[in-house]
Amino acid sequence: ANFSVVVPATTANLGPGFDSIGLALALYMTVDVASAETWSVFYEGDEYGDLPSGEDNLIVQTIQDVAGRYEKKIAAHRLQISSDIPLGKGLGSSATAIAAGIEIANRLAGLELSSKEKVFIGSELEGHADNVSAALLGGVTISYFDGEEIDVIHIPEPKVGAVILVPPEALRTEESRGLLPKQLLHMEATLGSAASSVMAAAIVQGDWVTAGRMMEKDVFHEPYRKQLFPDFDEIREMSKELGAFGMTISGAGPSLFIAVKEGSEQQLAVKLAAHFPYYKCIAVRPSVAGA
Ligand code: HSE
Repeated sequence: ANFSVVVPATTANLGPGFDSIGLALALYMTVDVASAETWSVFYEGDEYGDLPSGEDNLIVQTIQDVAGRYEKKIAAHRLQISSDIPLGKGLGSSATAIAAGIEIANRLAGLELSSKEKVFIGSELEGHADNVSAALLGGVTISYFDGEEIDVIHIPEPKVGAVILVPPEALRTEESRGLLPKQLLHMEATLGSAASSVMAAAIVQGDWVTAGRMMEKDVFHEPYRKQLFPDFDEIREMSKELGAFGMTISGAGPSLFIAVKEGSEQQLAVKLAAHFPYYKCIAVRPSVAGA
């Protein structure tokens, strides 16, 4: 390979940080990039067998989009991909692909993009900033993106552990977003905003007890989506009894995300796996590294 790009999985929202907050997880996609006659994409592993292998691949499309923005032409390359990130499971797989494309274009065209430029492009392509900011920067990212302006606060080394519960079936983000209401009552939105603000501030201070409590006070999406998750309330209750900080939906689902004390993730994953065999329980640490 000429070079490789390694991009983490992400969990988005953390409850009330809807479309804004992301946490990078130490599950990675590696893309080996080599010069070639035509664009081609090869995935290792069966799970990825159905993804496009040519110019219609999301990574290739992103590379070309980024090059076009800066009026550069990038010659064809071969992308060889291996990944630990479950596809379509609410762990940011599409944002990971977009982040990879941005980083590859940045290197191939010598763009020297700033972090802010990268997250802006990624957010435009993804439609929201939460997963893609965390995939690009690592750690926790708290973003404001309205289509024109972007601001990102980056917490590089969150001191927290994670358990992810991954069900067997994938879920399309559009389907899960389709469950959301067009409007919220002003009173509800006010509480949602307060929960998100307190959670963000608590994360910055490393107070995951408070952050975990706020994680469970979402009004923007959880009430409309939780019906999709078998045993949602039971999992929340049991994980809290076992000492977790809080449990919420990972991104748009179908996975669940549990914040736990660093070092206790393995133990909790084993216990939950025994009670909720429908889900695959993965103990994981945050990723400090981004793309
Ligand atoms: N914030 C997004 C959602 C994440 O919850 O729909 C998934 O792309």
